[in-house]
Amino acid sequence: MKVRKAVFPVAGLGTRFLPATKAMPKEMLTVVDKPLIQYAVEEALSSGITEIIFVTGRSKQAIEDHFDHFCELEQTLMARSKNALLREINHLVPESGTFIYTRQNEPLGLGHAIWCARHIVGNEPFAVLLADDLIKSDKPAIGQMIEQFNRLNASIVCVEEVDRKATASYGILDADPPKDRLTKIRGLVEKPEPDAAPSNLAIIGRYILTPEIFSILERKETGAGGEIQITDAMANLLGQQSLYGYRYEGIRYDCGTKVGFQMANISYALDRPDMRARLLPFIEQICQQ
Ligand code: G1P
Repeated sequence: MKVRKAVFPVAGLGTRFLPATKAMPKEMLTVVDKPLIQYAVEEALSSGITEIIFVTGRSKQAIEDHFDHFCELEQTLMARSKNALLREINHLVPESGTFIYTRQNEPLGLGHAIWCARHIVGNEPFAVLLADDLIKSDKPAIGQMIEQFNRLNASIVCVEEVDRKATASYGILDADPPKDRLTKIRGLVEKPEPDAAPSNLAIIGRYILTPEIFSILERKETGAGGEIQITDAMANLLGQQSLYGYRYEGIRYDCGTKVGFQMANISYALDRPDMRARLLPFIEQICQQ
């Protein structure tokens, strides 16, 4: 069955970015001139996903507004013949009914957030994208994974080798190093300390999951940090199905951290020819100070 739906868990409080995220969703933080959530949604849409499901929470209305018409602004841009900008803001507005919003009413963890989408996803494989992980690549990362899913017909998580010291920030695979970008998963652990980590293969925020995950999440078992973890649910699913890790092609920016977020901004800004010409000499200059 084709992967048509993508779930975007966007209910988190974004405490790492306070005070910026006090009155603004962290997914609306911008890399150059686009919010993080837009990069992730564009990645999904350009990978063939046709239904976008947001699992939101309190004070996340800006996300809904971002993907909707803004008549006054459109009229103003039209009156001023700002056609390129008009196209830019309008291509985001989906056909009615293709973007769906549901709420996670309690902050019980990523697994719980995904479970909140169960009735909308139904009985079919689906993608999950965490907007914090911004991936720059020629071919969209989730599209690379959908290609693998179409061959393997099994759940796939996106992976990257991380510094051993960093394992406590990630879900970690018990698996051999990937061959041709793929590795079969023997086990998964959420945020292990380095001495307990079965490898340095970390889960990056892209998943293709089969719907059987929902009946495991339904049990609401808690794991690391007292939360309902998707990593634990996948470990459980291993008893019934094969799971694979896929080493994506591209560069990931961890926009869940301040430093990763700044790196993303610098990198994406340097990709813009108009900005690069002024930014590069500036960076060189301040590095010498
Ligand atoms: C979540 C997952 C973790 C994964 C990470 C990727 O953690 O629980 O397994 O490695 O996303 O970004 P979080 O970053 O929300 O703490």
